[in-house]
Amino acid sequence: RTPEACTVVIFGATGDLTARKLLPALYNLAREGMVPAGFSLLGVGRRPWSDDDFRAEMRKSAEQFSRVQPINEEVWQTFAEGLFWVGGEFGDLNTYEQIASRLEHIDQQRGTAGNRLFYLAIPPSWFDDAISNLQKVNLTNQSHGWSRIIVEKPFGHDLRSAQELNDLVSRAFDESQVYRIDHYLGKETVQNLLVARFANAIFEPIWNRNYIDHVQITVAESLGIGSRAGFYEEAGALRDMITNHMMQLLTLTAMEPPVEFNEHEVRSEKVKVLHAIRPMSANDVDRNALRAQYDHGTINGDEVPSYLAEKGVNPTSRTPTFVALKFEIDNWRWAGVPFYLRTGKRLAKRVTEIAIQFKKPPLLLFPEIRDEIESNVLALRIQPNEGITLKFSAKQPGQRMIIHPVNMDFRYGSSFGVAAPEAYERLLLDAMLGDATLFTRRDEVEAQWALMTPILERWENDGVEHLPRYEAGTWGPEESDQFMQRDGREWRKL
Ligand code: BG6
Repeated sequence: RTPEACTVVIFGATGDLTARKLLPALYNLAREGMVPAGFSLLGVGRRPWSDDDFRAEMRKSAEQFSRVQPINEEVWQTFAEGLFWVGGEFGDLNTYEQIASRLEHIDQQRGTAGNRLFYLAIPPSWFDDAISNLQKVNLTNQSHGWSRIIVEKPFGHDLRSAQELNDLVSRAFDESQVYRIDHYLGKETVQNLLVARFANAIFEPIWNRNYIDHVQITVAESLGIGSRAGFYEEAGALRDMITNHMMQLLTLTAMEPPVEFNEHEVRSEKVKVLHAIRPMSANDVDRNALRAQYDHGTINGDEVPSYLAEKGVNPTSRTPTFVALKFEIDNWRWAGVPFYLRTGKRLAKRVTEIAIQFKKPPLLLFPEIRDEIESNVLALRIQPNEGITLKFSAKQPGQRMIIHPVNMDFRYGSSFGVAAPEAYERLLLDAMLGDATLFTRRDEVEAQWALMTPILERWENDGVEHLPRYEAGTWGPEESDQFMQRDGREWRKL
């Protein structure tokens, strides 16, 4: 399906997100013939650019960041004809009047029929201005074509601010017009999690407390905070990675089969999981939530500084760069099966994985090798080396009974031999099509924050002055290993 002709309006079109992700994604959709004839892109930002200046900048970003090179000249020419620019301040009503008149022109010239997708790729402090001014110039109503809005993270910084932001958005847009983006949902492997669970008959019967001992979700990065100290100091790992991306991985893993694959049913099932997660009291936080900060160390042979020595970081900062959590889900499927989450910057390598750890066999027929039998693990590798691995025990050939864990492996690379599209391609396409299944719903985002807020509050007020440290290039602080040992378990070695 290709979407109806429309204009994507990007606020913040001179920013990093547009250059690295949005423009390359839209260009690739055009290359694949997935954007409609007449597709247009209106960039909005402070620079006093002409349409041609904007086209030249976007060409650079396609050349630098598109996953397919070189740029196809024919596709680019057609694509570039649909690129337009409006320069102005986000706080100035005049900018929006210009946007409105530019959009009318585009409708006439290119047949976009009043269909608009607004993309807020700007800091949240500008959301209020952008949304209320769009409403003032009548661009939020759908009397003539459709009007939708994509809102980037961070979607609030705690429950109250998320509710306020939702209230603000809903004054101008109906929930059916709102697309809150979480780019993890656009990853092929994340969508494949649902396919693995619900397009196969063998997993679902054992996907519960009778067979599963616990679940581990890891999102490890070797990168530090780069040049984003200002943002990261305020966010930290719990807000930056867990509230959104990791809670999505958790809910997709834990949810019941939806009755249909559509935006209403899938999202309702995820929200049910969030409601079933046991909220943490202050005592629970002390026990089941762990935070730490990276110290200096070595990544790929290079010396890297500690978090506190990064440019722009307060030298007494308590912002966590590593978080481990244990969640309990109080429902019939998962009662007693802990979900352990860990994420961090400057860890040993970049890897995202969901590991389903099964129970040990009920009876051991091989008493002499009791210790050697490892549990079955189904590991869903989100990135890199995308695939699924099932670990089980096998007899080593020979006269003695020696048992070894072996793997059954599915790898995207070798099975399909094509590169997966970028997450933003799928998500932009879905927003143009009007399918919000892979976007976060209002109640979902609020339920995520409702679980995080007690943790944030406890960490704000627990009087801890110095967070535990971990050497950059390792798997986190010692406390993280102890966190698992306490439950008689250990983190997977990845
Ligand atoms: C972003 C976070 O949402 O996700 C970044 O703000 C993080 O801190 C990034 O690095 C990770 O995304 P990916 O796709 O590289 O796993």
